[in-house]
Amino acid sequence: MLISEKGQIERIRTWIEHFDEEMEGGIPKGHIVLFSGTAGTMKSSLTFNILYHEVRENKRVALYLTLEQSSESLLNHMINMGYDMNAISVYIINNIQDLASVLNTIRESGEGSLILIDLAAIRKEVKNATLGASGEWLNVIKNILRKMKEKGDLELFTLDSLSALYVISHFDNPRAELFYLFEYFRDLELTTFLIAERPLTRDKYAEYGVESFLADGVIALDLVERHRKVSREIRIVKMRATAANTDVFTLEYSNGTFKALYGGQPALI
Ligand SMILES: Nc1ncnc2c1ncn2[C@@H]1O[C@H](COP(=O)(O)OP(=O)(O)OP(=O)(O)O)[C@@H](O)[C@H]1O
Ligand SMILES: [Mg+2]
Repeated sequence: MLISEKGQIERIRTWIEHFDEEMEGGIPKGHIVLFSGTAGTMKSSLTFNILYHEVRENKRVALYLTLEQSSESLLNHMINMGYDMNAISVYIINNIQDLASVLNTIRESGEGSLILIDLAAIRKEVKNATLGASGEWLNVIKNILRKMKEKGDLELFTLDSLSALYVISHFDNPRAELFYLFEYFRDLELTTFLIAERPLTRDKYAEYGVESFLADGVIALDLVERHRKVSREIRIVKMRATAANTDVFTLEYSNGTFKALYGGQPALI
């Protein structure tokens, strides 16, 4: 959609205190944003946090596609972090065949909902599918997204992770195939969060390097050791259509809230 003035861009909050202010209020709706970090940098928790709050406060429909851990394991982690799952509608889809009826229920309720789908559910569907051998996994995932957009008003989507997708769906020509995959997400007008494992060489934000050019935004997460203490850091590497502060912030989590701090304090304006 072409906007006629600056203020028209609708933004999705990251729900990280003091961080949205550093990017004009949030991530522009419809953006594809890479959350890049090494192991344990809270990539899953941060993207889950956005989906959770958007479902709860703004009644949106969101999909968390977890290819790295099962839906149950992800939910258990989030419940342990203090998220109240009784406050939102959560659906775990173990059988893709059940999706249509769940989407119906969600539409009738008029409430926001969080849908979780994991690798095991996709694998079952790949076995059922009569598609050609190549790109089956990717086709199943694309079909789920299209169905959820058309029949379920899907707005937010997390793919956890791109790295896991690369393992199950071999890309012969990653540059071209990723280009078309990003185009697919864009056509569906989903606000998409792609979790990327940052290579330890740190010379790029995801496996092929091309992901950060294709994405509209890149948020980098880090664990930094100083005097035996390890702290978490977060940084906006890029955010299209946004005057973003690209400084490094300390990321803290306590009492159910993420906070971005600047030298231990919220950033001075
Ligand atoms: N209640 C809690 N409060 C704060 N931090 C927690 C809590 N529970 C777990 N953690 C931390 O969260 C981290 C894991 O978060 P998360 O799974 O979101 O990271 P990730 O980057 O997705 O990890 P992975 O690389 O394994 O996918 C763990 O390192 C753990 O120390
Ligand atoms: Mg994770």
